Amino acid sequence: CCLLLVLALLLPRDAASRKCHLQGLWRNELGSNMTIVATNTAGTFSGSYHTAVAATNKQILVSPLQGVQQHPSAKRHSTFGFTVQWQFSDSTTAFVGQCFVDHRGKETLETMWLLREEVLSRKDTWKATRVGTSIFTRIK
Ligand code: BTN
Repeated sequence: CCLLLVLALLLPRDAASRKCHLQGLWRNELGSNMTIVATNTAGTFSGSYHTAVAATNKQILVSPLQGVQQHPSAKRHSTFGFTVQWQFSDSTTAFVGQCFVDHRGKETLETMWLLREEVLSRKDTWKATRVGTSIFTRIK
């Protein structure tokens, strides 16, 4: 029994028991960078988003994000959502996702997003929303 106990203590922790922390610097497949700075025990967080691409021709500016995370202090693969208030366009983007940790401890944020652009008339609503998926990996 002592041997089993020693093995259990020495073996690397399995992926399911690793906790995912949102705080840090993340990059997605487009080359956009996202910094999550302030997380708290209530599960709210804030940060900034530097997109690598835009639907407008305006100069890209780093933009604030605000989010919520479920079960922030439990050892789980938490779901989360956040919105980005673009500082250089009239659009808003909402991301929802989930954090995963692989057996090597690599963290990945699997997300989907909706980008709503401002249109001048309700009749243009049909073309006002883009949708996509995005995978973020930690760079710091
Ligand atoms: C705009 O073009 O009006 C604002 C910038 C939108 C950038 C989008 S949000 C979803 C996708 N993922 C990114 O990292 N950037 C684009």
